[in-house]
Amino acid sequence: MDSIVVKGNGPLNGQIPIAGAKNACLTLMPATILSEEPLTLTNAPRLSDIKTMTQLLESLGAEVSSLQDGKVIAMSSHNLDNHIADYDIVRKMRASNLVLGPMLARLGHAVVSLPGGCAIGARPMDLHTYGLEKLGAQIELKDGYLHAKAPGGLKGAEMELAFASVGATENILMASTLAKGTTVIKNAAREPEIVDLADCLRAMGAQIEGDGTPTIVVQGVDRLGGATHAVVTDRIELGTYMLAPAIAGGEVELLGGRIDLLASFCEKLDAAGISVEETEKGLKVARRNGRVKAVDVVTEPFPGFPTDLQAQMMALMCTAEGTAVLEEKIFENRFMHAPELGRMGANIEVSGGTATVHGVERLKGAPVMATDLRASVSLILAGLAAEGETVVNRVYHLDRGYERLVEKLSNVGAIVERVPGV
Ligand code: UD1
Repeated sequence: MDSIVVKGNGPLNGQIPIAGAKNACLTLMPATILSEEPLTLTNAPRLSDIKTMTQLLESLGAEVSSLQDGKVIAMSSHNLDNHIADYDIVRKMRASNLVLGPMLARLGHAVVSLPGGCAIGARPMDLHTYGLEKLGAQIELKDGYLHAKAPGGLKGAEMELAFASVGATENILMASTLAKGTTVIKNAAREPEIVDLADCLRAMGAQIEGDGTPTIVVQGVDRLGGATHAVVTDRIELGTYMLAPAIAGGEVELLGGRIDLLASFCEKLDAAGISVEETEKGLKVARRNGRVKAVDVVTEPFPGFPTDLQAQMMALMCTAEGTAVLEEKIFENRFMHAPELGRMGANIEVSGGTATVHGVERLKGAPVMATDLRASVSLILAGLAAEGETVVNRVYHLDRGYERLVEKLSNVGAIVERVPGV
């Protein structure tokens, strides 16, 4: 298995282009199932998770072509001939469950494997099934698979999610576009990826209002057409690379970056002493003079601080002046990077959902292992300013969410190398 070797090398300078959002693309791709006409996505990221979703859609009978070096994904679901999302694919990637709502709406039935737990938490699907049942689906769990059917078609309904789940909102939103009548989703997730999905569905002919607010209202239509849609900027990739100059020093411009995608994160960077400036092409991030200041962080659904940037923020806090308390409120087991950062000399105490980081002057490079995507990249960020060499193993996690990471960081002056496994 490949590893990535990072050597601390002082300030970073230059530009990093930010790709289209993985998490948006993973919900936009299943939207193809809703229509017989083609759906084309531009600004798609080149990631292994996208390949996994391609494989899943193809297993259902959809045609998926990767064009322009993977930046364009052209899909057509005119000939769906399978309604079973197999465990072998779903277990690799939880977002596979996003085919459930669209299949149910288009075909009237769907069988989707339950994903099981993952490194960061149990991640059940009760909110997805609650919403789809409200729309009239009958759902049964058999042999690890959710068997869903809607013999008379889905019917619009009013519902309130107990938690603003991103995936549940996406599944219910997609299903409701073809349900008869009006659907009201209360306490819906407000993430930019939801708005991006709604924009795409509207381009396909759906009638949706209120996306980006806690109440989404959908008027069902008989059919959806084709569309071409540009995937929104990846705010998590953006935030990750904003932390590179924050940690290593220097000034980096993130091309395509927007403050509105990451307002709460930008506020924390400001409090830590990092300057973030909007430019014509994106965002410019620079570390002001002196050491970064410790800031406390609580992860929350959008517009709060994203859980997907918690590990990377912890990497910044490791060398901050003072003590930072990071509270994880979305996933119960998302501090697996803390002991690895500890191997690099960080002083972190974890107790339940809270990590207390006592800043140290400098980290030292070490061989480290990562258990999930965002944890892996936090170790690379930490390595950018550490003394000596950091070797991050289990690189396959990174390929799920960061395209051309070595190239992007090298271009701003980092010493990063991918070393093939033996
Ligand atoms: C999505 C993102 C992921 C991000 C997360 C939270 C994708 C592909 N992934 O994941 O990167 O970290 O949002 O911003 O977009 N929950 C339930 N029951 C459910 C569904 C969720 O209890 O039916 C819980 C989860 O266990 C978790 C919390 O709700 O504790 C948030 O999960 P959710 O918002 O659904 O995250 P995902 O859509 O899985």
